Amino acid sequence: MPDMVGLGALSVLDVTLAALGVALVSLILSGKRKGPLPPGPKGWPIIGNVLDMPSSYQWKTYTQWAEKWGDIISVTLLGQPIVVVSSLEHATELLERRSTLYSDRPILTVGGKIVGWDQIVVLTPYGPRFREARRLLSRWIGSRSSVARFAPMLQHETSKYLLDLRRSPEQFVNHIKKSAAAIILTMTYGYQIKGDKDPLIEIVDRAMAQFTVLTTPGTFLADIFPSLEHVPSWVPGTGWKQRALGARQDTDAMLDVPYSIVEKEMAAGTATPSFLSVNIEGNPDPTEEFQSTLKTTAGVLYAGGSDTTVSTLHSFFLAMACYPEIQKKAQQEIDAVIGNDRLPTLADQDSLPYVNAVCAELHRWNPVAPLGVTHRLVQDDVYAGYFFPKGTLITVNAWKILHDPETYKNPLDFNPGRFMGTEPETDPRPVAFGFGRRICPGLNFADASIFLSCAMMLAVFDVSKAVEYGRVIEPVVEYTSGQIRISKPSGPVQVFDQAPVCEG
Ligand code: HEM
Repeated sequence: MPDMVGLGALSVLDVTLAALGVALVSLILSGKRKGPLPPGPKGWPIIGNVLDMPSSYQWKTYTQWAEKWGDIISVTLLGQPIVVVSSLEHATELLERRSTLYSDRPILTVGGKIVGWDQIVVLTPYGPRFREARRLLSRWIGSRSSVARFAPMLQHETSKYLLDLRRSPEQFVNHIKKSAAAIILTMTYGYQIKGDKDPLIEIVDRAMAQFTVLTTPGTFLADIFPSLEHVPSWVPGTGWKQRALGARQDTDAMLDVPYSIVEKEMAAGTATPSFLSVNIEGNPDPTEEFQSTLKTTAGVLYAGGSDTTVSTLHSFFLAMACYPEIQKKAQQEIDAVIGNDRLPTLADQDSLPYVNAVCAELHRWNPVAPLGVTHRLVQDDVYAGYFFPKGTLITVNAWKILHDPETYKNPLDFNPGRFMGTEPETDPRPVAFGFGRRICPGLNFADASIFLSCAMMLAVFDVSKAVEYGRVIEPVVEYTSGQIRISKPSGPVQVFDQAPVCEG
């Protein structure tokens, strides 16, 4: 776990007093509770379940806890209740049907307030700024038809990716990353990336690298004791604060640099239409608040859309290498429906049900966000005989729901066939893309871009396990921990040409 917030900087007495304060408040509040919290590991006085909390692969521990205590469990960290929900039924009831109550985000002093991510919709509190950002996103990519207008751009960028793959197939991980970045930057800023070391990608990647670490709830003591924000940076042991202030500069650069590029291009009349240019043009006299919302909403498109797509496409390579018969079947479908004289397009999506099933299975087999993104409750609520106080954090264990053997037969197997036939298993996307008013606003865009990448790849390349000195190397299906998980290592798989690639 990163620098647990320079705890040493403050006297042990300070921290203990603060913890006692929190414990006392929660004790008083618990006296007023209209029911118990859901069951879970017992924990200790004052610190609660701090010592029970896993520092990595949290969904595995949450799954074990669900097996022991049921699909709705709770833990308390220094007075902060966290409820973990492991069934679709509970998640739907709380986050969809009661979405006016459950659509806030955790308040993070470090990642949110200091580093600035609370301005960016993924962590913006439920309120007017959040609604405005979601309105902008919904107008831009909120439906299949709004996404359809990006088909030529997606086709063009994916063709470039295939050409990169052909030139250096061993670099497939870098090519996936570059292609995902190019697609989002074109759609958001009309920006064309410049080679393999693009300066803008370096800026946004630097900010993104901080995001996962700095916004994981529980990483910083200042997220639990917000008053630590005011400890001056010169106090020894406040390395966490300097680090956060440094990260703030990266966040600001991620938002400001592309914004000013677009402004300059618009002034010169050279801007390619994009999310930003279209919205600036549509609001010739914007308020400062609107300008800031626009800037941060543009920023969230890259934040939400790059690593998630990259991770899913990693899983695609891994799955195709591990399951050659499934790859063959998908290729046969493409050959039968499309033939050999053109590449699949977005317009073919509905005619390629097996390829679509492959894409759906990627979201189920190894979900990108196994615990989704945490929601926060804005007022006291009672559910299933339990009492959730205002401020309770709600996490959905998407991994468990998507690997429930009652819903998915042999859940660890990659089997797109499960979504075919007369009795298909449940589509995993409503779980993988989150819930209620916070549901992923990029789901239609992600669906289109992942389908196109997979279909075009399958049309021209074969993926197989790597062979070294005549020996097949078995890929290990292993993923990183963290909010967005990526298969690791980059995969001992190889990519072979099947047929010539045409430029789009
Ligand atoms: C494999 C692809 C993707 C997956 C699995 C995925 C999944 C998710 C999940 C689980 C959430 C949290 C939902 C919740 O809080 O209940 C989310 C939020 C979000 N996603 Fe995605 N996402 C993907 C791609 C994208 C793309 C392509 C974009 C944009 C172009 C995007 C933009 C966002 C944004 C802005 C949020 C924050 C929404 C909010 O807090 O209101 N995502 N996504």
